[in-house]
This record gives sequence, structure tokens and C-alpha cells, in this order.
Amino acid sequence: MENRRTTREGFSSGLAVFFATLGSAVGLGNIWKLPYIIGESGGGAFLLIYVLCIFLVGIPVMISEFYIGRKTRKNSVGAFKELNANPAWKSVGFAGILSAYFIMFFYSDVAGWVYSYVFRVIRGDFANITTETAGQKFNSTLLGPVSPIIWQIVVMAVVSVILIAGVKKGIEKVTKTLMPVLFILIIICGIRAVTLPGSFEGIRFLFNVDFTKVTSSVLLTALGLAFFKLSLGMGTMITYGSYFTEDNNMINTSIRVALSDTLVSLLAGIAIFPAVFSFHMKPSAGPGLLFMTIPLLFSKMAFGNILLIAFFLLSSIAATTAMLSLVEVPVAYFTEERGMSRKKAVILNSLIIVLFGVLATLSADNGSVLSRVKIFGKTFFDLFDFLSSNVLLPAGGLLIAIFAGHLVNKKDLTEELSNKGTLHNNRFIEAYYFILRYITPVLLAIVFISSLGVLNYLFKWIRG
Ligand code: PHE
Repeated sequence: MENRRTTREGFSSGLAVFFATLGSAVGLGNIWKLPYIIGESGGGAFLLIYVLCIFLVGIPVMISEFYIGRKTRKNSVGAFKELNANPAWKSVGFAGILSAYFIMFFYSDVAGWVYSYVFRVIRGDFANITTETAGQKFNSTLLGPVSPIIWQIVVMAVVSVILIAGVKKGIEKVTKTLMPVLFILIIICGIRAVTLPGSFEGIRFLFNVDFTKVTSSVLLTALGLAFFKLSLGMGTMITYGSYFTEDNNMINTSIRVALSDTLVSLLAGIAIFPAVFSFHMKPSAGPGLLFMTIPLLFSKMAFGNILLIAFFLLSSIAATTAMLSLVEVPVAYFTEERGMSRKKAVILNSLIIVLFGVLATLSADNGSVLSRVKIFGKTFFDLFDFLSSNVLLPAGGLLIAIFAGHLVNKKDLTEELSNKGTLHNNRFIEAYYFILRYITPVLLAIVFISSLGVLNYLFKWIRG
């Protein structure tokens, strides 16, 4: 045991743990997904429910994943195998790998749009942009059909090079250098946006709480988003946890990561919504929101081009560091359970992602080549997103909460979370354990049942 703990690669310090984990959490979720979902779901009320989900469900599940990973020092499948003799638990690890693939299939596509925007801004494509042409420019990005695929391949090539370099020399080095840059860039963009004329309406939209817009599907969306945002329910945090230092305070790390990630989301919202309102766009413009508002926002101001490059650069950083953690899930599995070399595992996975990712890329827009092909009424792009965020991640999270809260020996859990008693954080552990056992699974179960339509009926009945 000791031997394996020391020979396996891992992060080298607490700071490295923090930035790598934050690098996984902060991603297109903050900058692309959360803003458009808030826009579609009515603003502040959604935001409030989302934050509740982070505290009552997200943080407890994250701590549990860290525990599972660091305790076993294994990939997501191997970790369950080691902790529980019942082979059924291994399938939670496998389901996680499957959700990682579903996410990567569409995520690599959107990451490609972001990369291509950096390139296009530098080329001067957005020089005389108006509210109308912003939409056209976004559509032309999606329609391709060749260029979005090429950008997707570029994304996977960048991710592969970093991952092949390893956990320390690749993931750790890149996240430690780039995450602080991302923070500085997003603060600059946020400050610029709130000083725009008419920005107040955007801020009000973001923070105004109107509960009449909350339906059961909004609850499910908020919960799914919390999982997606914090990279939970699919083994990413198990895998990263397995690289944590022995002396890391995991409860602390999870709270710091969750809070910093939410801060980035708020800053992104603050950068985007004022622009939506000052340029008379609809907050419910859907997935294109970011790609249409931001170029407009910066095009008309001094140093706008530099800010525009800064924004899409920071989005590219966010997308890349999140992708690292997604691809690492199957890579860790293939190297440790299947005896493959790291290089081979990375290349194999990148090929799989590009191959199936093309299905998402070619169905991302109404006019795309594969947009007419529907499965369960959804395009490939939407199906991959729906199956991961709204089904597999919450289900994985529920099982992980049950596993850590009810099957794992409490003494063992306490020992790991207190670093063998050296942290004196017993009160935190007790609070975590209580929420994990009684609140997290109940909330998850309620939201699941509600997605079957039962709660909606109840809401209607209560409102008369
Ligand atoms: N958390 C990332 C984001 O917000 C996405 C992600 C999901 C990364 C699941 C890893 C695992 O963009």
C-alpha cells in the first residue's frame, strides 16, 4: 500500500491541488452554459436555487469523491472495486466514464467555437459588428461543416499534448499558470461591463428573485448544472482526488473550489447580462448568448479588441483545463486497469472523442447537416448534453452520496477527512456527514421524482 501511494504520480502541493481542481470546475459551464440557462430560466430565482444545490448537494458529493479517490489512490473504476466487494459498485465507475464521454462529445465542439473566436477576433472579423450580424457570425461558426470539426481537432490536440506530459508536468503546470490569469481577465471584463450605460437592468435580471418561474424542470436543471459545474457525479473528482497530497484538507479544498467557481460564474454573468440588455437582445437567446453578446459588448469601446481577445482567451483557458479533467477519467482507467501506456491512452481517447464528437458538431445548429436526425426528439448535441447533465450526473451523484454516507465505515471516512486526526475538523466532518446522509440523497431523489412530472402537478395544485 505505502509503496503504491508513493510511486504513483500526483500533485505536488496544496496550491497545485487547488488550481487543478478549480481548473476542472471552472469551464464553459460558467461562461457559456450558466448564463444562457439563467437567461432561459428567469434569472435570480434560478441562481438562488442553483447556489442552494451547490451547498446542499454539490459540496457533500465533492468531498465524498475526494475521499474515494485519495483513500484508494485509484481511477474511478478501480476505486470502487477496492472499497466494496460488491461488483455492482464498479458500474458507478463505468457509468461515470460513459458520462465523461457524452460531455466531451459536445464540450470539445463548444471549446472549438471558443478557440475559433480568438482566431477570428485577431483576424478582425468582428470589427463592424451589429446586433443582426452578431447572430450571423455565430451561425457561420457552427455551420461549417468543416471548420468546426477542424477546431474540435485542434482542441483535442492541445489537450492531448498537455495530458501526455503527465499529471505534474502537464495538468499541474498548466492549471497553476493559467488559472490566476483567467481570474484577472474575468475581473477586468466584469468591471468593464458594469460600467456600461444601461447595465443596471442586466444586474437586476441576474439578482431579481421571481419564484413564479420555478417549475420542477427548473429544479432539475439547477441540480444538473450544479453537478456539471463542479465536475461531479462522474468520477472526475475521484480521479483528481487520487492525485491529492496526503496532507490536503479536503473539506477545505471543496469549499474553496465551490466558492471560487461560483464567483467566476457571477463575474461571467455580470459581464454578459448588462451587455444583453444594453444591446436589446433577448436573455433567452439560448446557447449562442455568449457568442453574440460579448463581441457586441467590446466592439464599440476603446481597447475593445484587446478586451475581446482577453475574454475568448480566458474562455479557451477555462475550456481547456476542464477538458483535461474530463479526458483524465478514461485515461486513468485505461492506464491502470487495462495496462495501457499513458501516451496510447490519451491518443486513443482523443480519437474516440473526435469521432463521436463530430456527431455533436454536425448537429449543433438548426441548419447543420445532421440537425434533422433526432433520437428521443433530440439532436445528437442536445442528447449528449441531456443524458449527461440531467440523467447520468445526478444519478451518479445520488449513488456516490449513498455509498459514502451509508456504506463506507464512518471511522474510516473520519480518519481520511481529518488526515488521521491531525486536522481537528471534527465539527465540519459531522456537518458534512449529516447533510450527506439525510439531506443530499433526499433532495436528489425528490428532484428525480419531480422530473417525472409529479411535482409540477403539485405546484399547480398549490397555486390553485
Ligand atoms: N465543470 C466543467 C464546466 O463547468 C465541466 C465539466 C463537467 C468538467 C464534468 C469535468 C467534468 O465547464
